[in-house]
Formats: sequence, structure tokens, C-alpha cells
Amino acid sequence: MKILVLGGTWFLGRAVAEEAVASGHTVTTFNRGRSGPDVPGTQQFRGDRDNPEDLARLAAGQSWDAVIDTSGQVPRTVAASVRALARHAGRYVFVSTVSVYQGWPVEPLTEESPMLYCPPDAGPDYGENHPRGYPRRYGFQKAGCERAVTEFFPGGTVILRPGVILGPYEYIGRLPWWLRRIERGGTVLAPGDPARSIQPVDVHDVAAFVITAAHGLTGVFNVTAPSAHATYGSLLAACRQVTGSNATFTWVPDDFLLQHGVWQWTEIPLWRVYPGTWDVRSARAHAAGLTCRPIHDTVSATWAWLGAGGTTIGHHRQAAIGLDPAKERDLLTAWASTAGAVG
Ligand SMILES: NC(=O)c1ccc[n+]([C@@H]2O[C@H](COP(=O)([O-])OP(=O)(O)OC[C@H]3O[C@@H](n4cnc5c(N)ncnc54)[C@H](OP(=O)(O)O)[C@@H]3O)[C@@H](O)[C@H]2O)c1
Repeated sequence: MKILVLGGTWFLGRAVAEEAVASGHTVTTFNRGRSGPDVPGTQQFRGDRDNPEDLARLAAGQSWDAVIDTSGQVPRTVAASVRALARHAGRYVFVSTVSVYQGWPVEPLTEESPMLYCPPDAGPDYGENHPRGYPRRYGFQKAGCERAVTEFFPGGTVILRPGVILGPYEYIGRLPWWLRRIERGGTVLAPGDPARSIQPVDVHDVAAFVITAAHGLTGVFNVTAPSAHATYGSLLAACRQVTGSNATFTWVPDDFLLQHGVWQWTEIPLWRVYPGTWDVRSARAHAAGLTCRPIHDTVSATWAWLGAGGTTIGHHRQAAIGLDPAKERDLLTAWASTAGAVG
């Protein structure tokens, strides 16, 4: 196949380009040349997807079997790409997110769960935070991007909605934070229940499924690891194993952390008490070919990437994450002094 990747030099887009080249496809990447080195074996086209002239130059005289859009974040920008490429590509694969669901992260989700509404030509300011206070504009924006693809692209479209993606080049820095913290050793505050089921999906497993989708899937697919694929305990144990750390884990219950004002998701990466966070049904994708490697392999590959100088610095979605060491010590001391800790 001839494939055009919008993005293609960082995290998921990079993994997609690598998987596509390895599978023998002809791959063009379109980006500004700022975020990362080009993937060997790809052809590069430099341009800014916010610039209509660059999109017109990209499309002129070209055709692809599939466009894979990993980098679309703003509806009207995605709409412009879709319109520019409409007569030049057979299929459009758009990478969205489970954040488009109204119920995320509180309720269990299927592909039929109600979505946030956002017009397909909305600008970057459309959307509002959740009534509980957490950020949700990203979900509105991606919902509008999906509409732009399905309403304006005349050929086959596939919408992929990953949950949390982990692996090398992860820009939000969730797993890198845990690896660095556990590498430091000592007593590590571990949040909640070690048996809590989690569903992060490896970036290369998502990428392989993106290529499968480009071959001819249609419709909408949640893309997560199956329920109970891993636990929070197995994630942290894998971090300890690959870092060779002497860390010991003190598991502190959710309620205690919430009462002490610890921020879910950001202050302790990947920790969230809402029941829907790790209850995303992705059976449709698994039936269509998504496979998920063990969490240990993802942790190991991420550690290898960090060891080779990998860094999460500079991405616009990089979160302010991680528990301050002094706060972690104070919380552990407070927890040790409770009846719950000794009982
Ligand atoms: N991280 C998660 O856990 C998670 C979960 C669910 C869904 N997702 C979704 O998964 C996708 C991840 O995509 P990704 O890893 O490839 O990262 P991304 O930040 O969406 O895309 C980065 C790529 O796009 C290029 N790019 C950025 N702005 C551009 C512009 N204006 N014009 C042309 N190229 C531009 C960058 O290169 P240059 O900077 O050089 O231009 C880079 O190659 C996103 O759509 C995200 O919403 C992520």
C-alpha cells in the first residue's frame, strides 16, 4: 500500500511509520520537521497542516491508498486536511481517543456510549471542562475531529479510540515518571489496590492495528488492552524488575490519598479511582486483529528508550506529573501512623 502519515516522527505516528515500513508499505510522512528524527525508509514531505498552501502542495499530483492521521487535534484543521486529501486517498484512518465519550472516565464504555458534541469545523477553543473540574476540552476537540472525518471524507473511514497508550517516545511522561521514581528506590508510595485491573495499550500494538485498519476496516473501534490484561501491581513490579531497583511498595488506599488532596491521574500517573477509567470494552478491535503484548514488554522497551537518551520534553500535551518527593514522604509517614497501616 501507499500510505501517508500525518505526523510520523513522534510516539504513535512514529510507531505507525516504523510498522508500515517493516511491513513493506511505501510510506510518506508529513510534518514540520521539528519533533523528532525521520523514520528510516520513509519519504518525507515538510509542511504545516495549519497552512492550506502546504496541504495543497502535499496533495498535488499524488495519491495514496490510505491517509493515517495521528496528529489531528483541532476540528477545523482536520476538516482542512480531509478536504485537501479527499480526492487523493482511498481511506482515512483517524486516531481519536476514549476522551470523546461523555461518560469517560466515570462509566464503563463501549463504542455505542454517548459522545461529547463538537461541530466539525470548530476552532481550538470549543469545549468546556467536566462539572467535576477535570479538563475535557481535548475530548470535545477530538469528537469534532471525528465528525470532520466522517462527514467530509468521501471514501472509507476508520475512527480509532485508544485509551492510555504507553511505550517509547511517550510524550505525556506517565510511565517514564514511574520508571524514574522506582529506579530511585526506597519506599515507594503505591496508590490504591495492587489488584486493580488496568488497560494501557502498547504503542506498537496500536500502530499494528492502525495498519490493519488502513487495509480495509470501517467504523469505530475502541483500542485498549483487554480488561484484566494487567494490574497496577504488575505494572509497578515490572518497573522494579527492569530498573533493577531495591524499591519496596507501600500500598495506600484510594480514600486516604483523596482525603490528603492527592491529584488523580497527574500527581500520581495512571492512578484514578473512577470505575470507568479501566472499563473500556474493546472486543470489536480484538476481533478485528488487535493483539496486546504483556505489560512487562512495554515497560522494558520504554526503559530501554530512556536509557538511550529518550526524553519527554517539549510536547504540547506533556502533563505536569509526578508526586513531589517531600509530599510522598509526608504521606507515607501519615499513613504509617494510622490504624489502617498497622491493622
Ligand atoms: N498518549 C495517549 O495515551 C493517547 C491516548 C489516546 C489517544 N491518543 C492520540 O494518539 C495520537 C498520538 O499521536 P502522536 O503520538 O503521533 O503525536 P501527535 O502530537 O498527535 O503528533 C505529533 C506528530 O505530528 C507532527 N505535527 C504536529 N503538529 C503539526 C503541524 N501543525 N503540521 C504538520 N505536522 C505536525 C509532529 O511533527 P512536527 O512537530 O515536526 O511537525 C509529529 O510528527 C494523538 O492523536 C492523540 O490524541 C493518545
